[in-house]
Amino acid sequence: MLEISFAKQALPKTGALVLLVDDQLAADQLEATDEATGGAITRAFAAAEFKGKPGSTCVILAPGAGLSRVVAVGIGKTEALTAKLAEEAGGHALPLLSRDTHASLAAGGLSEELAAHVGLGALLRSYRFDRYRTTEKAEDKPKLASLAVLVAHPSAAKEAWTPLKAIGDGVVLTRDLVSEPANILSPAVMAERCQALEALGLKVEVLGPKELTKLGFGALLGVSQGSANEPRVVAMHWYGASGEPTKAKKGAKATARPAPLAFIGKGVTFDTGGISIKPAAGMEDMKWDMGGAGTVVGLMAALAGRQAKVDVIGVVGLVENMPSGTAQRPGDVVTSYSGQTIEVLNTDAEGRLVLADVLAWTAKEYQPRFMIDLATLTGAMIVSLGHEYAGFFSNDDTLAQQLFAAGETTGELLWRMPLADSYDKQLKSEIADMKNITGRPGSAITAAQFIKRFVGETPWAHLDVAGVVWSSKDAATIPKGATAYGVRLLDRLVAEHFEGVSPTP
Ligand code: BES
Ligand code: MN
Ligand code: ZN
Repeated sequence: MLEISFAKQALPKTGALVLLVDDQLAADQLEATDEATGGAITRAFAAAEFKGKPGSTCVILAPGAGLSRVVAVGIGKTEALTAKLAEEAGGHALPLLSRDTHASLAAGGLSEELAAHVGLGALLRSYRFDRYRTTEKAEDKPKLASLAVLVAHPSAAKEAWTPLKAIGDGVVLTRDLVSEPANILSPAVMAERCQALEALGLKVEVLGPKELTKLGFGALLGVSQGSANEPRVVAMHWYGASGEPTKAKKGAKATARPAPLAFIGKGVTFDTGGISIKPAAGMEDMKWDMGGAGTVVGLMAALAGRQAKVDVIGVVGLVENMPSGTAQRPGDVVTSYSGQTIEVLNTDAEGRLVLADVLAWTAKEYQPRFMIDLATLTGAMIVSLGHEYAGFFSNDDTLAQQLFAAGETTGELLWRMPLADSYDKQLKSEIADMKNITGRPGSAITAAQFIKRFVGETPWAHLDVAGVVWSSKDAATIPKGATAYGVRLLDRLVAEHFEGVSPTP
């Protein structure tokens, strides 16, 4: 992984140099670089008509003064620079540095906090899932190993970097999980990767088929029963506010401890559709049907990694949805953890079955302050909002407002969708308490209405992330592939409203 460091501002003597140029064509180290290279920088800006617009770049090769290249990245108005824009500037620079092993980035003109965000943007853009490339030539691989961000006060920047690095690590973990093919990442293997987070101080509890049967996770087990890979439910606990519960205190849990926040993820490690099987074309995408769970795991790693002062539970329902002689059939009736019965009319509407049990169990077991679930739940959500916004549903206006605002600041955008009794009515079954599908109109909404039947009175939000978990094009801080959508968004939500610290706007 790209190594980000912070050092005192100065003109570097070798390697690549990144300049962050504003719309007045001013930048830290610009004059010094221009002087040392006999005016090569300002001549190049004029020739390229480079004006410092956000997202625009200008590369000057071998300008002299020992530098391999100068990469100018536009940042627009310096006063208007936010953490998000700073990250994007770092992200835009990154692909232009792939032929150097070391680069410096002059950020002496920015606050140390913003300079740290530039480093985060570069780190996020440098992500590559390389595990299964064995024959790629060295000259085709990006070479950049380290980036030194040059600032006025390196120690202040390092301090700002520590929590951001934890968030970056969380994003990388999520992207690694989501990128992994389903023959490697079974529910059991994903549970093991969750368990590895105990190294960060999380307490991780894993439920296997025996426990799940005993607890009565009938809806989740119905989905899993066609697969040779056993299901798992993993609960990850972070006690950043109250400290780990001791045995003696356990009885007093409900009154003595603050209610935790709860994040729940759909973790279908592969979704064939089951007996209601999907068409062959594009089915490979369903390796990322565990994207919601992947985000919950990365978020928990980020919160623990930055020692967040809050109690949080992350729960993921891990199953594989396969057709086989033991698979559930259309028309089967299952009894969920909550006791409500479900007629499974389409085995491809499996995510809501998994979430039904995991949400009901989390609500009962932890009485959380809120539950936020993330799920690649419906193709209809992609039809509604495409790949730009995630759709969300909530029974709580305050939580909805907080989520929306966190989306705007982090750039992980989301748009509220409606809930209403008229949609709920469509779930009526002829034989059980409800059926698991409705007609196509509004089917992302009726899916949310289905889930709502399992959350009780708990404040809740459901994020349908089907359109945003995977990207087919590069963005400033998100290379194409697994996006880890939600890690930054929910980290921000927690930091802003549930820890009492106010991060940089
Ligand atoms: N995992 C899919 C939803 C999905 C589809 C996510 C495409 C990302 C891309 C989900 O389990 C599913 O199959 N949903 C069905 C529900 C239908 C059968 C009611 C859908 O959306 O078609
Ligand atoms: Mn499905
Ligand atoms: Zn699915």
